[in-house]
Amino acid sequence: MPTETLLATLALAALPAALYKAWRRLQLSRAKHPSLAGHSLWAKRIARLVPGYSYTEAEFFAADGAPPEVQALRRAGLARLSQRLRMRSSRTLALTAEVREGLSDLQFTGRYRVPFQFSEYVRANLPLGAFWASAEGVELTDLDGTRCIDLTGSYGVNVFGLDFYKACMAEGLALGNSLGPVLGGYHPCVADNVARLKAISGLDEVSFHMSGTEAVMQAVRLARYHTRKRYVVRFTGAYHGWWEDVQPGPGNPLPPRETYTLKDMGDADTLRVLRTRTDIACVLVNPLQALHPNRNAPGDSTLVDGQRSAGFDRAAYTAWLHTLRQVCTERGIVLIFDEVFVGFRLAPGGAQEYFGVQADMVTYGKTLGGGLPVGVVCGRQHLMQRFRPERPADICFARGTFNAHPAVMGAMHAFLNRLQTPEVQAIYSGLDERWQARAAAFNRAMTEASLPLRVEALSSIWTVTYQLPSRYHWLLQFYLREAGLALSWVGTGRFIFSLNFSDADMAEVTRRVVAACQHMQADGWWWQGPGSQPKAIRRKILKEMLQMRFTGKRG
Ligand SMILES: Cc1ncc(COP(=O)(O)O)c(C=O)c1O
Repeated sequence: MPTETLLATLALAALPAALYKAWRRLQLSRAKHPSLAGHSLWAKRIARLVPGYSYTEAEFFAADGAPPEVQALRRAGLARLSQRLRMRSSRTLALTAEVREGLSDLQFTGRYRVPFQFSEYVRANLPLGAFWASAEGVELTDLDGTRCIDLTGSYGVNVFGLDFYKACMAEGLALGNSLGPVLGGYHPCVADNVARLKAISGLDEVSFHMSGTEAVMQAVRLARYHTRKRYVVRFTGAYHGWWEDVQPGPGNPLPPRETYTLKDMGDADTLRVLRTRTDIACVLVNPLQALHPNRNAPGDSTLVDGQRSAGFDRAAYTAWLHTLRQVCTERGIVLIFDEVFVGFRLAPGGAQEYFGVQADMVTYGKTLGGGLPVGVVCGRQHLMQRFRPERPADICFARGTFNAHPAVMGAMHAFLNRLQTPEVQAIYSGLDERWQARAAAFNRAMTEASLPLRVEALSSIWTVTYQLPSRYHWLLQFYLREAGLALSWVGTGRFIFSLNFSDADMAEVTRRVVAACQHMQADGWWWQGPGSQPKAIRRKILKEMLQMRFTGKRG
């Protein structure tokens, strides 16, 4: 056969395979969210192109083109706010300033509290203290004795109230004290913890780790090991810790590898990918995404054009999880619920109980440590095993020095003991209704005060949404601090309540939010004009970036 004919025949034979591959690639592309959050590789590339720059003082007050009289209001308001924050917490701020240079974590969170253009001026003029001297009830007290109601929720750890965890920690330390730092062997309370976790998760085995990130990493590794498939499916916007494979896109120095980031809740393209591909080891679900499917965690630094949307539809999300369960079962894909954040907050049996779906593996962390650091994986027996008896050299290695530390196991024991008490069970009774009613009451108060913000709630986790466009919504977190409300560095994206908040505490929170918003409004930050509209904001920012990128300066 002549060479040309041979090549043509070979090309023809390879065509169906190439077409099939292209078709599968297309299916995968369609299952990605059209936003950058769904395209981690592009997000990462584009993030590298975004030039850094800071607004001058003049630009800071006029970023939306507000007239001079509004700018003057803003200047006076910010000066007053700055002075009040400094006056109330001078010692706390002095120590924060002293330690910042040597504390990388603080530099990072300080920089990403607000959109980057405003960040430098904010750091110089609106300092927030990073130290607390004590905590009690629902309040934190700083080094100057200034008290704030705690809406940080300690990153979600604080489900039952600060004093609850103080008691668990003390009990845990006392219990573990007989062993001190003995590791490798276990304190007897571990037997009880394992039995309770098996019952709570409905799964066969448990492994202990030191953080939620580590637990997720181990669950994914085990799923890959047992299915002999490479890819993990996670959903757009979901956080699963800072480990590479589950944090593709910006925030991670390595490019995304064996991870598919697909559209969330009810998406037919995603289901098609799960039903047809043969390379998927596991599907990782963070049920917190029910509050904002397909969106990243709602930090104030991303509140660039003032728009943020959220909303929880329990029935729709429940149906989605049931569908995922069914597809994973049909396809031999491991369904992993990452309950590090929501575990024990929605129901005693966690998200599995709340949504009525049994996963193959569940990760817990945060609150389960009773105030001490922990990560836990629960899973079916055939998935948890780290070795193959028939191939002794083929293992899935995982060990950690501090896993199952006596003090942590003791505090977990105290936590799990308390979980069974009638007092704690009573907290769970009518929980959803109570918190939905509280969110509704909060929103009514905002309407009555004609304020442009509302909350969307997943039980005791709230996200603030704004009804006006603005370049300045992120400033509210500073007015809230002035009013005595402490938020984490993500700002108004999350109010995390502990379940010991009384109706009186909620009324006080609402009163303080109203007061803070009224100040913000009076100081002119919510002025509306052509430059405060989302399209105009985006256009202005794009222009600034292009100028910076191509000329190295602006204006
Ligand atoms: C759902 C989820 N998974 C994993 C993690 C990581 O846990 P850790 O911060 O303990 O490593 C977090 C932390 O916020 C989380 O919310």
